[in-house]
Amino acid sequence: MDDTILVAYATRYGSTKEIAGAIADTLRSGGETVDLLPMGEVTDIGRYRAAVVGSPIYMGKWLSDAQIFIERQQKELRRMPVAFFSVGMTVVDKTEDGYRRAEAAMDQVRLLVQPVEIGLFAGKLEPSNLSLPDRAIVALVRAPSGDYRNWDEIRTWASGLIEKIR
Ligand SMILES: Cc1cc2nc3c(=O)[nH]c(=O)nc-3n(C[C@H](O)[C@H](O)[C@H](O)COP(=O)(O)O)c2cc1C
Repeated sequence: MDDTILVAYATRYGSTKEIAGAIADTLRSGGETVDLLPMGEVTDIGRYRAAVVGSPIYMGKWLSDAQIFIERQQKELRRMPVAFFSVGMTVVDKTEDGYRRAEAAMDQVRLLVQPVEIGLFAGKLEPSNLSLPDRAIVALVRAPSGDYRNWDEIRTWASGLIEKIR
């Protein structure tokens, strides 16, 4: 094991990748050594001393790549402090119900690995960039469109992690 923190993300359209990047930058500013990787590119997870793992929410759940990553790596992840974050649009209005729904997206992975901290962040939805099936779903549920990512909130959360994953 070395002193590196893993920041691993899943993404479909890139907004969660950018949030993971802001988290990694904040940890680096705090003096930490960080590997920022898409989940599919993580090898030798046992060498990390802590991990921050995040996924966007689609239809109430983490992307399947992210769920599979936690399933496959659960043994190693249980040996280190882990933080999870979810990115979605139900938290845009900051209602209790919206946060509850975003947190529920992590129910499955939290059965396997108990995080020391969780983050729930508003994401970005640009209907014109979506695949046709995704655009149809978004129109159906009338999801708000726009970029609602709050970079101050994300950086503040990441700064607070430094103590918790030490
Ligand atoms: C087809 C579709 C379904 C979505 N379902 C949810 C959902 O159930 N809950 C939620 O909070 N956000 C939902 N979103 C919003 C995404 O989580 C948000 O756009 C996120 O920033 C996308 O991340 P990505 O750019 O990393 O793929 C959905 C978006 C799309 C396109």
